[in-house]
Amino acid sequence: MSRPEWHLEDLWLSLQDCWPGLSVEWLPQIDSTNTELARRVRRGQSDRLLLVAEHQTAGRGRLGRDWQTPAGSALTFSLGMALNPPSWSGLSLAVGLTLAEALDPQHHMGLGLKWPNDLWHWPQPEAPSKVGGILIETLSLPDPAMGRYVIIGVGINLHTPDIQTGGIAPRGLEHWGPPPEPGLVLAQVAPALGQLLVGFERLGAAPWLARYASRDLLLGQALRTSQGLQGLGRGVDEHGALLLDTEQGLKRVESSDISVRPLKMTSP
Ligand code: BTN
Repeated sequence: MSRPEWHLEDLWLSLQDCWPGLSVEWLPQIDSTNTELARRVRRGQSDRLLLVAEHQTAGRGRLGRDWQTPAGSALTFSLGMALNPPSWSGLSLAVGLTLAEALDPQHHMGLGLKWPNDLWHWPQPEAPSKVGGILIETLSLPDPAMGRYVIIGVGINLHTPDIQTGGIAPRGLEHWGPPPEPGLVLAQVAPALGQLLVGFERLGAAPWLARYASRDLLLGQALRTSQGLQGLGRGVDEHGALLLDTEQGLKRVESSDISVRPLKMTSP
């Protein structure tokens, strides 16, 4: 809590209602906030923690990819806690939806989701760009009755870096207004994530999946998975699996090693 512009004391206070006992920690630099939380859990530290890093030197993305962001260009944090939901399915979609709604509540920015949980801006017929990414990992706990320790890692581009992430052009929140302060963006999204996790532990992802279609950028798009399946996006099912309307009928895509790329852009 050393940097006043992060307003971390205020944030900590605002989060105590949903997460009593949560600590907030800020680091100037770390390899990866997800990796650091996982290291701590393996050392027996499984407290609730929101870990924010000014800069990550070895940020990680989904599917074993890197998440590289130049210093100061992105908000990077991980939230870790023991959680014991009725089912884990749909959590990543619910987190993506929560972030899109918190950052763009009126949908004026046009922030949407590329399944399962990338935050994209796709003002068709222009090319899509990536505003944020989410990496969710879980670790077992010594007492299985506590559920699992979940680490929700979030990276949100504040400025538009020169480097490319996963083939999609990155876009920073500065695109929509004055240079965003990382502490204010964190204060915008962290309480919403808190409410999500409290609700998710009781109800699972159903309430969020019911709203997913409103931000689903793949709905009706011609898609191809990395395993060669092709079809039109038909939303997600009650478990958060992507539905593809293929020549062989409706197929569920749920494996995390599948990437989805639009084949072509349709007219708005
Ligand atoms: C993706 O788009 O593939 C997911 C990117 C997730 C990046 C965040 S930044 C904070 C946390 N720490 C990491 O190493 N990764 C996540």
